[in-house]
Amino acid sequence: MKLLILNGPNLNLLGLREPSVYGNRSFESYLEEITQVFPVVEFVYAQSNVEGELINLLHEANSNVDGIILNAAGYTHTSVAIADAIAAIKTPVIEVHLSNIYAREEFRHTTLTAKHCIGLISGFGLLSYQLAVEAFIEKFGKSY
Ligand code: DQA
Repeated sequence: MKLLILNGPNLNLLGLREPSVYGNRSFESYLEEITQVFPVVEFVYAQSNVEGELINLLHEANSNVDGIILNAAGYTHTSVAIADAIAAIKTPVIEVHLSNIYAREEFRHTTLTAKHCIGLISGFGLLSYQLAVEAFIEKFGKSY
């Protein structure tokens, strides 16, 4: 099973950025760990701070991966275009957030993207990504 993990704006600063909210570990170091935890999964990782690039990556992933784990970060709450891109592709997407977006400021309670995803995992820190991988394996793993 091939999964794309796609991170949006400011997540390149994970580990340095607001550690009390997002933790103090870089995504690269976490990626090494989950690659070992799930040897059956081929991970592809991409991060961009640019909305259009995230959309291009979603389009490109469409025929190339079995599932997408998306943390669109701030664009979750604002981007009609990313929501449309998720709706446009066939590949299933799971939306993840490190923080519990519903326990934070009100503007973070709206996700424009989740409606087009097969599920939403929010609030478990980096474990949110692992739970998404497990959901993909549980839901679709047997067919690979
Ligand atoms: C986030 C939550 C968003 O509200 C925020 O803009 C982020 C990170 C999270 O993973 O908790 O950048 O997506």
